[in-house]
Amino acid sequence: MTKIAITGSNGLVGSRIIELLKKDFTFIPFTQKDFDITDPSQTKKLIDKTDFDLMIHLAAYTNVAGAETNREACYKINVDGTRNIFNAVQDKEKKFIFISTDFVFDGKQPPYDEDSSPNPPGIYADSKYQAEKVVKNKAMIVRIA
Ligand SMILES: NC(=O)c1ccc[n+]([C@@H]2O[C@H](COP(=O)([O-])OP(=O)(O)OC[C@H]3O[C@@H](n4cnc5c(N)ncnc54)[C@H](OP(=O)(O)O)[C@@H]3O)[C@@H](O)[C@H]2O)c1
Repeated sequence: MTKIAITGSNGLVGSRIIELLKKDFTFIPFTQKDFDITDPSQTKKLIDKTDFDLMIHLAAYTNVAGAETNREACYKINVDGTRNIFNAVQDKEKKFIFISTDFVFDGKQPPYDEDSSPNPPGIYADSKYQAEKVVKNKAMIVRIA
């Protein structure tokens, strides 16, 4: 069975993905207790010793309103954290799926497709778009709503 490592596994989306797909895949769930994605060495250490086929990266700072006043924490977790985990996964030459958001678009001129230009309407949305740029063309980016 394909082994899927998953960050943010106890979050809203991660816990549901595991619940729905656990019969078809072996999940290796990671929470912040296992490692903090903002710590590059902790992140690399854990990823190095984990056996998996692909990584789904969900862990994020997700408080949209809070991000406006906690800007630094939001970018640190969403952009630096994504870079840390992506680098560690790339070193192992494993596949990477980055979960982004439809919120990278401002909603003013729908419909949107993969080639539409993002215009993130706030700090959280911008941090997710900046994180997309870290993995762009080297990983799968999925913008969920
Ligand atoms: N929910 C939505 O409607 C929605 C829509 C569009 C996109 N998304 C995207 O989908 C993903 C999951 O969203 P969600 O709603 O499931 O979020 P959530 O419930 O807030 O869960 C976020 C997860 O991130 C983990 N996390 C936060 N900071 C961390 C850190 N420094 N190190 C390690 N783990 C950390 C948390 O772990 P702990 O609980 O262990 O702290 C938590 O499990 C996010 O990337 C989000 O941008 C969600």
